[in-house]
Amino acid sequence: MSFRDTHAGELGSADAGRTVQLAGWADRIRDQGGVIFIDLRDASGVIQVVIDPAEHPAAVDLRREFCLSAIGTVTIRPAGSENLDLKTGSVEVAISDLTVLSTAKALPFQLDERTDVDELVRLKYRYLDMRRPRVAANIRARSVGVAAMRSTLSDAGFLEIETPTLIRSTPEGARDVLVPSRLQQGDFYALPQSPQLFKQLLMIGGIERYYQIARCYRDEDFRSDRQLEFTQLDIEGSFWGREEVLATLESVMVEVVRAVRGVELSTPFPRIPFQEAIDRYGRDKPDTRFAMTIEDFTDLFASAGFKAFAGVLEAGGVIRGLNAGPLGLSRSALDGLVDDAKEAGASGLVWLVVEEDGAIRSPVAKFLSDEEMAGMVSTLSASSGDHILVVADRARVASEVLGRFRVRFGTPEHHDELEFVWVIDFPVFEETDSGDLVASHHPFTAPADVEDMAANPRTAVAQAYDLVLNGLELGSGSVRIHDPDTQQKIFEILGIGADEAEERFGWFVEALRYGTPPHAGFAVGIARLMSILQDEPNIREVIPFPKTQTGIDPLTGSPSAVDDDQLVELGIDLRPEVRAERMAREAESAAPEVG
Ligand code: AMO
Repeated sequence: MSFRDTHAGELGSADAGRTVQLAGWADRIRDQGGVIFIDLRDASGVIQVVIDPAEHPAAVDLRREFCLSAIGTVTIRPAGSENLDLKTGSVEVAISDLTVLSTAKALPFQLDERTDVDELVRLKYRYLDMRRPRVAANIRARSVGVAAMRSTLSDAGFLEIETPTLIRSTPEGARDVLVPSRLQQGDFYALPQSPQLFKQLLMIGGIERYYQIARCYRDEDFRSDRQLEFTQLDIEGSFWGREEVLATLESVMVEVVRAVRGVELSTPFPRIPFQEAIDRYGRDKPDTRFAMTIEDFTDLFASAGFKAFAGVLEAGGVIRGLNAGPLGLSRSALDGLVDDAKEAGASGLVWLVVEEDGAIRSPVAKFLSDEEMAGMVSTLSASSGDHILVVADRARVASEVLGRFRVRFGTPEHHDELEFVWVIDFPVFEETDSGDLVASHHPFTAPADVEDMAANPRTAVAQAYDLVLNGLELGSGSVRIHDPDTQQKIFEILGIGADEAEERFGWFVEALRYGTPPHAGFAVGIARLMSILQDEPNIREVIPFPKTQTGIDPLTGSPSAVDDDQLVELGIDLRPEVRAERMAREAESAAPEVG
């Protein structure tokens, strides 16, 4: 038996008179007594089919989301009854033969886009959720985007190569997801946080051009742009430096955006050095869709009479400000900003509002000279109604706090515009709160200058770069270390002793000793990219089966308990307190609901 010869969404006036066989779901049903109209939906779209219940008595029992196959004749809709909202709205199909392929229970939620459904329920019934146009469109767009990545890279001579997912832990900075070994009881595999070291081994192995649509796993705090498991477009090239990586990624982005959005990007993308991004935008992922840049007023206030400013300058701090625009905030809301700034780590915040006559309203106006106020107004091109926010503090704090206000007051709601920017020249190391150094990207990243790094690790610049789109970090990459001595130097600075380095990475440093080509690469988070291209606020919307914020899959109920026998086979026993807690949880969820 054949189910169909025509896709619903492809029908139009040119098909009038054709006999077609369709298959799909009953999207909407309108029973008008003598005639039943059904919007029949398949993956290609929707077509209205018309059924005469006198000829098909069973049709009166049809319900939403029944799965149907139907044969009928395409007819032009009577004048005035066309549906302009529907691509196929000029025609309908008069049904002569109808088969119910399967029935459907009453749905847990309406599948139209107008109904707001709790996310937990959506995820529990994700297979129904993805029948809704928005999720369906996201899944499709993602496939189109990934296909564009594959074709661009394959045409450029890259090989698509799989790397293992049961590996020895690689240090990308997050917690590993571990898998116990049955054969070597007590030992664990890690799931890859990324294929980092394997792609470098491929370069050592002479592959030269690699890419992979790679699953990665990181047990880190969830956010709207983070999942426990996610997918990267991962690439690496030999005899490469930064320019080859950036040019390759730009060509991929051009193709993906053309395929998904139908928009032509212009290249090269602008580049912003890390330090400038921090100073002018307050973060290493600047949203360049809007100006509102942070300006430095340190020179302007060099001989400040205002004690709070003078004190900060004396201590080596800076004074920076931004024009947050005509926010129309009340006095108490403006004072609330001061509290927010303090909570974000600044010692305070000064606000100034430009009045209609050009005068400045501010609790500190009396402490500032006319030149100082005029200097700020002119540097920030502030005009009537604009709110100026100023922070005096250590440079990094001042910019970061202002950067938060910039994002809060400036970020456009939708992603209509696409502003790609490279952030380059990241530092090699970052300082933790306790003053220790950790790798700012990962410990296989080449410094710009090895000797300088050894002498001044806290200020050393790395050959590392990020791709940022509309203020979101899409991906990161770097030129890698291909010299084992430099690699060991980095481990030393990171406080990883020779023995520990040998134990954790000895196999990798050994590989570097066999004629390693200079190489470089990059990885893009595919869900992050697609969420912006699809104008979604959350990466879960572009992931077919995402986990919730707490790492749970409400559809299958994972993670879940396993049989004791399975644990015994793995040589694992749960700690007594964990076992007790589990049992309490189980008892609670098994208890009958009250009320
Ligand atoms: P990095 O750790 O910066 O670099 O990761 C690259 C990109 O992967 C995405 N990403 C995530 N997406 C969703 N959920 C997560 N938990 C998550 N973590 C990261 C982001 C990020 O920019 N091996 C290096 C790349 C390289 O040097 O070639 C790496 O993985 O979009």
